[in-house]
Amino acid sequence: MGNPLLRAVAKTVPAEVIRSRSFQQFCDDLLESMFEHDGSGLAAPQVFESVRVVVFSFEGGDPIFLINPVVTPISDETREGYEGCLSVPGLRGKVTRWLDIRVDGLNREGKPFAFEAHGWPARIVQHEVDHLDGVLYVDKAAPGSLAFLPEYRRFGPPIPLPKGHDEDEESDEEGADDEE
Ligand code: NI
Repeated sequence: MGNPLLRAVAKTVPAEVIRSRSFQQFCDDLLESMFEHDGSGLAAPQVFESVRVVVFSFEGGDPIFLINPVVTPISDETREGYEGCLSVPGLRGKVTRWLDIRVDGLNREGKPFAFEAHGWPARIVQHEVDHLDGVLYVDKAAPGSLAFLPEYRRFGPPIPLPKGHDEDEESDEEGADDEE
């Protein structure tokens, strides 16, 4: 946090660049950084390349690259959940996100693709795509919800999640150790 590139609006990647060797190498490097830091997602600005590229992995599944992604909510429902970020190490905070989204973008081969995501995967995608617009989750975190990770682990969330969010709490616990 604090590097101006994390606050910039990242540049759209021209389609003709995607298949180039240097861009493919960049994708490999981004993925390696994500694994190195044990993250569930990583956006290019986090490795100080201001381009619209993110990679993420749902529950240890195959990594998915998204180039020039666009997120559209497909329901009015939102959920609160705790997030962390590799660019803001050692903190957790509560953020409200869309529960159901559609994602459009280009894949690593430069082909357009789209998918729907719900719950935790939808949260990861929204967190990563925010990075492309210079937005960090701490900007959106509920006042009073930030906690240092050791304390978060010891005491739990500073503001308990509302009742009726059991399903999300479960997935949040699972993801709350990851940084994105
Ligand atoms: Ni992040």
